Amino acid sequence: MSNVVVVGAQWGDEGKGRIVDWLAEQADIVARYNGGHNAGHTLVVNGQTYKLALLPSGVVRGKLGLIGNGVALDPEALLAEIDRMAALGIRVTPEVLQIADTATLVLPVHRAIDAAQERLRAKPIGTTLRGIGPAYEDKVGRRGLRVCDLAEPELLASKLDLLLQHHNAWFRGLGLEPFRKDQMLSELLAMAPRILPFAGRVWEQLDHAYTSGKRTVFEGSQAVMLDVDWGSYPYVTSSSAIAAGAASGTGIAPSRLGPVLGVSKVYATRVGEGPFTSEVEGAQGDTLRQRGGEYGVNTGRPRRCGWLDTVQLRQSGKVAGINLLALTKLDVLDGFDSVYVCVGYELDGKRIDYMPSTNAEQQRLVPVLKRFEGWKDSTRGIRSFADLPRQAVALIEAIQEEVGIPVAMVTTGPERDDAIVLRSPFDDAGCLAM
Ligand code: GDP
Ligand code: IMO
Ligand code: MG
Repeated sequence: MSNVVVVGAQWGDEGKGRIVDWLAEQADIVARYNGGHNAGHTLVVNGQTYKLALLPSGVVRGKLGLIGNGVALDPEALLAEIDRMAALGIRVTPEVLQIADTATLVLPVHRAIDAAQERLRAKPIGTTLRGIGPAYEDKVGRRGLRVCDLAEPELLASKLDLLLQHHNAWFRGLGLEPFRKDQMLSELLAMAPRILPFAGRVWEQLDHAYTSGKRTVFEGSQAVMLDVDWGSYPYVTSSSAIAAGAASGTGIAPSRLGPVLGVSKVYATRVGEGPFTSEVEGAQGDTLRQRGGEYGVNTGRPRRCGWLDTVQLRQSGKVAGINLLALTKLDVLDGFDSVYVCVGYELDGKRIDYMPSTNAEQQRLVPVLKRFEGWKDSTRGIRSFADLPRQAVALIEAIQEEVGIPVAMVTTGPERDDAIVLRSPFDDAGCLAM
């Protein structure tokens, strides 16, 4: 098995970064395929915390990182992140990072549009304000700038003219200050000599890697419930966060992707607006937030907290083709008298077992909660299934049963090795049938 895809199975922040870091030990390459610096992936290694936004999580192990064409790349954010990593002793050079020259650029004008759109919305989405949505809008609008354009200053200038012609009409129409080209152009040209050495043909690298038997981990950002097609639209991000996105977002053939490892917490969180059926407000939600450290990695926003939703997880598993589950943050549930799991929905008094399509219906869902006995002992740092309290084992087994996907790994703390590994997707040919 030479490749594995890692996807967020809930609303993001499930711990994908640390799962990718674990898989990266057995791999040669880590490739990002969607999103941009709206992502925040955390790794904790020997007490040192690494917060990654655009860089593939394999850079911490010195594995080759690829940034695919499906990523929205803010060159300023990338260079700042490379500098932050250098300060932590991780050198990111073109030998360890390659960027698809066809990746779309996130520009300052996109950040301004993101902020203005949020202000204008009657119901804001709660975006990260990084300009990601507007950059993807320009991509599909066929007026976007791409990494390869940085190599041609004249072309870059004329593309910027066209882009601003489009957006300034909108800014002016709303009585907002139009955007000026000169500063944006000079900043891009100043960054180009640092960015271009990283630019290349990622699809070709992945083809060579596959044919020479190398292993690649495809690192998803965001999650199924934030996917532009499969999430709780319009409260979603603007990219393809499911496993299929790994193919379109890097240029690898779908038949070469390998098993899909879905990552889910043993409870649930969501940052930003939108339906969240199993959300728990009040003291219990606050306890989850505090124990889980549930604040955004990059934005610092408090995350909304709730119980695990197996209806959502089962449906996400199907559309993302999840073969195995990694359950994270078991230790956060230590000390609860009771733990709950959402095992069904009621919609207008009728029991349903799927997530309805309209936002209005999603907002009206009432969770059907099942109670599980909690445990008092600490599970923090436990690395063997046999050492878990019986109540924790019962919870994991019940989740596996409800969702219908085998659990490959359970994590018990943020440190790299705080985990119980039951099976590795790399060594498990049978998991593809699941
Ligand atoms: P990602 O976006 O999916 O990579 O996840 P984030 O990094 O945004 O959020 C996950 C947070 O949970 C980070 O602060 C991690 O350090 C932390 N974390 C990951 N696994 C565990 C775990 O098993 N236990 C605890 N307590 N924290 C964890
Ligand atoms: P990782 O990869 C959690 C959410 C935002 C907002 C919505 C749209 O760390 O799991 P955007 O800026 O993308 O247009 O915002 O999506 N969001 C995330 N939530 N984790 C993320 O990434 C997210 N990236 C975007 O909060 O609700
Ligand atoms: Mg995150």
